[in-house]
Amino acid sequence: MGMERFDFLVLGSGVAGLSYALRVARHGTVAIVTKKESAESNTNYAQGGIAGVMDDEDSYQSHIADTLTAGAGLCDREAVEVVVREGPRRIRELMDFGARFTRENGLLHLGREGGHSAHRIVHAADATGREVERALLAKVRAHPNIHIFEFHFALELITEHHLGQHVSRLRPDMHCFGAYVLDEKADRVKTFLARATLLATGGSGQVYLHTTNPAIATGDGTAMAYRAKARIANMEFVQFHPTTLYHPEAASFLISEAVRGEGGLLLNRAGERFMPKYDPRAELAPRDIVARAIDDQLKQTGDPHVWLDVSHRPADRIREHFPTIYETCLGYGIDITREPIPVVPAAHYQCGGVQTDLFGRTSLAGLFACGEVTCTGLHGANRLASNSLLEALVFSHRAIAPSIAYAREVAWREDVPPWDAGGTVRPNEWVLISHNRDELRRVMWDYVGIVRSNLRLKRALRRTRMLYEETEDFYRRSRVSPGLCELRNMIAVAYLIIRSAQMRRESRGLHYMLDYPEPVEDERRPTIV
Ligand code: FAD
Ligand code: SIN
Repeated sequence: MGMERFDFLVLGSGVAGLSYALRVARHGTVAIVTKKESAESNTNYAQGGIAGVMDDEDSYQSHIADTLTAGAGLCDREAVEVVVREGPRRIRELMDFGARFTRENGLLHLGREGGHSAHRIVHAADATGREVERALLAKVRAHPNIHIFEFHFALELITEHHLGQHVSRLRPDMHCFGAYVLDEKADRVKTFLARATLLATGGSGQVYLHTTNPAIATGDGTAMAYRAKARIANMEFVQFHPTTLYHPEAASFLISEAVRGEGGLLLNRAGERFMPKYDPRAELAPRDIVARAIDDQLKQTGDPHVWLDVSHRPADRIREHFPTIYETCLGYGIDITREPIPVVPAAHYQCGGVQTDLFGRTSLAGLFACGEVTCTGLHGANRLASNSLLEALVFSHRAIAPSIAYAREVAWREDVPPWDAGGTVRPNEWVLISHNRDELRRVMWDYVGIVRSNLRLKRALRRTRMLYEETEDFYRRSRVSPGLCELRNMIAVAYLIIRSAQMRRESRGLHYMLDYPEPVEDERRPTIV
């Protein structure tokens, strides 16, 4: 009853999950479990593009150096080399899968973004993610070995814990046997047994009040892996995108960094360009620097936003390269070809996550991971723009050989018990979920944002603990639902961010602490929880 068996179980249908699924499908049956419609993912909203050395004038050395500089001394050099060198091949494969990118005079048009010293961003106008997702989904849907389960919410990874054994983060021989998944439409929990499981559930921007991420980004995979005792790394490094549209009716709509790459200038209320005061790279400095500069301007002036002005560029070119941004802003009454755009920073990307090796292996045997849910070592203390779609493509490919080898070795674990819903009832206090969710997001925004301090982190931890206790008590008595499980996961991710931030006693990359404003050589190592 409610038992599914697949060779490969893929949790998530963004770029990481889909590209992995397509490749393993030649070697066995694949289930893709995804909590909403298949296309709903961070991938689908990616604007700027995919970084890759695709031009003779560019070089691997330059992309490697830019990535290392953005990462502020915390990147794993091997991971950087692997991603930069293998990336262009993976981008070409994506084109073979049917992705159509913007061309000029027959050649790929390469954009430029902050922190990059060359034009190297492959893109589909300003809707790159939508094109990537469209192309991959079309291939996946046509594959006879792949079964997509939409509106299926992964609740927990199945490990020795569910077989009644003692588990601990220190135990070296832990395994993943699949996942418990809530079929949202049938309202019942199914057991998905798998020989190999891929975690590709993306990031956690929803943990913050203001975010560029869609509603699905609640950190479910990071939280599940943490509860399953997998190793989690570098969660203090949350990237805030400097420029999201400031408008009362816009839910943090992103204004791509490519707009600054195209010559867009950041201005304060007086119409003055302020970035050159903060960094010689001005508007094209890495994101942490630009976001902190904007934060500083807002604190100095008390203004709710700054301005991004691209109106000095030819109107035709703006409309051609940024059709989505142009149309969306116009919908809010802002013509970006004629006037500046009001912008503020918002939480954008989780640089830390489930720690993997260079082949997507996690600390649990049988559990592989790729995409934003991971910490591969590529980003270090700050991700370089457009390196994340690239990272997902490279590691979803690298995880194939070890996944197939592992799946060949093991059988389904038939002694896994069904989901235990004993003692729970249908919840009648929905207000608790929405209230605690709102409070958590506010606490994280106010105390664990772009600029942090020991006092703010202590306050955040205390409030998060209270929310944890109240929510866990409610969870123990309630039948599972996506809303409740997302809240639990968001609280777990918030805890991981706060604890990791407290453990790092320095400022580095995205982690800026008023109490320790400089980097400290002894702290130059990953934070592991
Ligand atoms: P996602 O694409 O987020 O996919 C995660 C999947 O997991 C989704 O299908 C989700 O529904 C599913 N899921 C989550 N939890 C569960 C659960 N409990 N059960 C079942 N399914 C679940 N990066 C770049 O490199 N270039 C860009 O130009 C760029 N622009 C961006 C613009 C925006 C607005 C945003 C938000 C991000 C952008 N990024 C960009 C970042 C990039 O899009 C993401 O890092 C990347 O797409 C992540 O891919 P993924 O496959 O790991 O996760
Ligand atoms: C953007 O288009 O500015 C987003 C790029 C990214 O997050 O890599």
